[in-house]
Amino acid sequence: MYFRGVKNIFIPLQYLAYRLKAKGAHGIHSPFVYELFHKVVCESPDYYDFLPIEHLRKRLLTSKEVIEVVDFGAVKKGKYNKKVKDIVRKSAIPAKEGRLLFRLVNFVQPKTMVEMGTSLGISTLYQHKARPEARMITMEGSPGTSTYAGMNFKIFNEENIKRVVGDFAQTLPEVIKNLTSVDYVFFDGNHRKEATLDYFQKFLPLASGHCVFVFDDIRWSTGMHEAWKEIIKEPRATVTVDLFSFGLVFFNPTQVKQHFVLKNWE
Ligand SMILES: C[S@@+](CC[C@H](N)C(=O)[O-])C[C@H]1O[C@@H](n2cnc3c(N)ncnc32)[C@H](O)[C@@H]1O
Repeated sequence: MYFRGVKNIFIPLQYLAYRLKAKGAHGIHSPFVYELFHKVVCESPDYYDFLPIEHLRKRLLTSKEVIEVVDFGAVKKGKYNKKVKDIVRKSAIPAKEGRLLFRLVNFVQPKTMVEMGTSLGISTLYQHKARPEARMITMEGSPGTSTYAGMNFKIFNEENIKRVVGDFAQTLPEVIKNLTSVDYVFFDGNHRKEATLDYFQKFLPLASGHCVFVFDDIRWSTGMHEAWKEIIKEPRATVTVDLFSFGLVFFNPTQVKQHFVLKNWE
């Protein structure tokens, strides 16, 4: 169990409750969720795209570079100089979760993807590599961090990833205005209850029938967990899946509304 940058007694207690509820293959009666479990949640053999991303992470973890970061955070606000290695250590998605996002994108086959919270671009690369032909928009508030992510995308020759820079409060309305629908949204910035619910409501009218919303860190705080519990009540959300740190929301109208807690260990 790993939560980026958090030491919180709430999490071990939540993990215990999750372990008691979570179902494996035998307890899943929905064919759609059964397929999702096998193709996405269960680890499958490595794709060859994973290695270069993990090489990038390794290199960033030994980098001596320092960049200016604007923190909008739920933890602290302001402008700071931060070591690249500390940003990647504290903010980047762990490899196991990156691989899961890759498999999820592969499963959903989205045409339009949005990520809220680029940081240095590790999660962006995992998602984009699974479907390079999709339109990918990644949003980040800190200009220095986004520029650095852009350099990482260049190393991968992935210059068609569109970076949107600025506080979500300013940039999200413009992003939404320029989209007619979305098939995949990864919510991984500004882990506050009200903000998370607000972003969810803003993307909701754009969600296509085969869309998935992915919420990261749904147990990062009591507020995030409360937001998640409200999200799963949304009538347009049909299948919702609790993977402990990720929450998945599907909008397929042919599925009956049902919530699943799935085993995401082993
Ligand atoms: C957890 S990190 C994203 C990590 C990244 N998805 C990854 O796994 O590699 C969250 C990012 O969201 C950005 N962020 C947080 N609140 C924001 C806001 N209100 N507007 C814009 N960006 C924000 C932060 O600057 C930070 O880089």
